[in-house]
Amino acid sequence: MNTLITNIGELVTNAPAGGDEPGRERGGFAAVNNAALIMDDERIAWTGPAAAAPAADQRVDADGRAVLPGFVDSHAHLVFAGERGAEFAARMAGLPYSAGGIRSTVAATRAASDAQLLGNLRRLAEEMLAQGITTFECKSGYGLTVADEARSVALAAELTPEVTYLGAHVVPPEFESDPAGYVELTCGPMLAACAPHARWVDVFCERGAFDGEQARAILAAGRSAGLEPRVHANQLGHGPGVQVAVESGAASADHCTYLSDADVAALAASGTVATLLPGVEFSTRQPYPDARRLLEAGVTVAIATDCNPGSCFTSSMPFCIALAVRDMRMTTQEAVWSATRGGALALRRDDVGHLAVGARADVVMLNAPTHAYLAYRPGVPQVAAVWRGGSLVA
Ligand code: NIG
Ligand code: FE
Repeated sequence: MNTLITNIGELVTNAPAGGDEPGRERGGFAAVNNAALIMDDERIAWTGPAAAAPAADQRVDADGRAVLPGFVDSHAHLVFAGERGAEFAARMAGLPYSAGGIRSTVAATRAASDAQLLGNLRRLAEEMLAQGITTFECKSGYGLTVADEARSVALAAELTPEVTYLGAHVVPPEFESDPAGYVELTCGPMLAACAPHARWVDVFCERGAFDGEQARAILAAGRSAGLEPRVHANQLGHGPGVQVAVESGAASADHCTYLSDADVAALAASGTVATLLPGVEFSTRQPYPDARRLLEAGVTVAIATDCNPGSCFTSSMPFCIALAVRDMRMTTQEAVWSATRGGALALRRDDVGHLAVGARADVVMLNAPTHAYLAYRPGVPQVAAVWRGGSLVA
């Protein structure tokens, strides 16, 4: 059974241009007007001009609307309980963001049942899907005991294959006087309990969390347990995070708000994607990362939501695209590419983030004629339909 979507005003394909070495593809936004596509079971089988489309079992008329690859959210923290609305309100009244707020979510998460955590996670995943996110990464990091981290990654694995072990989010209160002991735990029994459920290992490399040496040890331990590194880097100030990410061969260095010239050069010379999270700067009133500096240096840039209860509680990729365009001066094409293909590269995925023949049929139809409306009409729900693996899911 195959499905034709025709009469597409603008079809964003991001068809990978090839040519560059793997993982180093950049800025390949590509779109076709008056287009059609065919989904054959789970895959894209054909794209091209509507007038040339072959017949199919089922026909959907896009009526001139835009069709895009499903968004790929390569950074989210969805396994938690509780909320921190008062912390957000206090920030808006002038208090700064600090990593310490994580601990209040840790207390609520430890106290929650598996069913509560899974219910919250499912609700957030449904919110994401309704806004066009068809692939998402999900981190642990609010449990910080062996049992609570293990159940966090196991619950995340029920909903996504892109599960990240983030036992090294912050040092929990019971290890306040023994941070080295906590690093040992995260590299030993906690890692052993989590690795079977995870693909990735992450560390919050920041003053107030883990330093460069600790981060290196945690990523190396993760690697030897078969996990691939990614790093929370340079979010709150200058520091070693980006260099550690590049040295460890991380798929992605995330945040990248405070970068030296050497950091930018290291990213440009590596296969490490810079994942920008503009919802965080919106929600913490920090300065936005300098996306243009990264793009001009030739760094591969992804945009992700960082959905979490503390620094950024949005599940909306369209909102993050609007911020990237308005406040980080990305073009509408760059922002949409970074939220689709860029996110896929940050997760080392070739099957999503584009709509070339053979890609997974993860497709978003907008209630708008072009991709630019995602930024042009900020805050307006514009996702008309979502297919994942060829099935209509929203
Ligand atoms: O990506 N930076 C570390 N982790 C999250 C924030 C988590 C929290 O405040 O609860 C982030 O911003
Ligand atoms: Fe994060």
